[in-house]
Amino acid sequence: MQISPSILSADFANLESELAAIANADWAHVDVMDNHFVPNLTLGLPVVESLLKVSPIPIDCHLMIEDPDRWAPGYAEAGAQSVTFHIEAAADPIRLARAIRSAGARAAFALKPGTDFAPYEELLPEVDMVLVMTVEPGFGGQSFMADQMPKVRQVREAVRRHGGEIWIQVDGGVSAATIEQCAEAGADVFVAGSAVYGAESAAAAVEQLRELSARHG
Ligand code: DX5
Ligand code: ZN
Repeated sequence: MQISPSILSADFANLESELAAIANADWAHVDVMDNHFVPNLTLGLPVVESLLKVSPIPIDCHLMIEDPDRWAPGYAEAGAQSVTFHIEAAADPIRLARAIRSAGARAAFALKPGTDFAPYEELLPEVDMVLVMTVEPGFGGQSFMADQMPKVRQVREAVRRHGGEIWIQVDGGVSAATIEQCAEAGADVFVAGSAVYGAESAAAAVEQLRELSARHG
């Protein structure tokens, strides 16, 4: 069970100290948005390069961008330890996942709430993680979509059938109130933005989420 706080809810003027505040987490989740794939704009490769220099923990890049075939390998080459692209945006996901892996990062694809997993099951041998979105991508602080839990179960069953160590990440509305149902459905990497950075102590929130998720491990 791993916790990946999203810095989308952090103070963008103080990202170094915001990363230090979650040093007890497994990953720092960095949401890259291009204002085209989603109606919001955050940060890109130059900022990720700077974050990599100061982050006490590995960086988990979630790319909500168009044309990831062109842009995603650059994040892996820069040193991001995990790079997730959206399957809806990828032209050649096998080639892209291989490019990310050969640059030394873990590769993952993400599914928006309206995207079915079944057509992409054959991609499992090419990736290290599948991200099941539990909100519409674009913004932090939205309500958790419990109707995505059957998809998490479906991915977990497919991973079991295929074998190998493929992680299942959930992202969006994950909090102390919702993390247990995600873990119970088969998720093992949990992104939480507002639940961590909105808490009085980010580090304590990470520990609480870790404990709650472990109850269903
Ligand atoms: C949404 C992002 C999430 C977001 C989660 O598009 O991918 O990572 O930061 O924020 P919360 O946990 O507040 O829903
Ligand atoms: Zn995200």
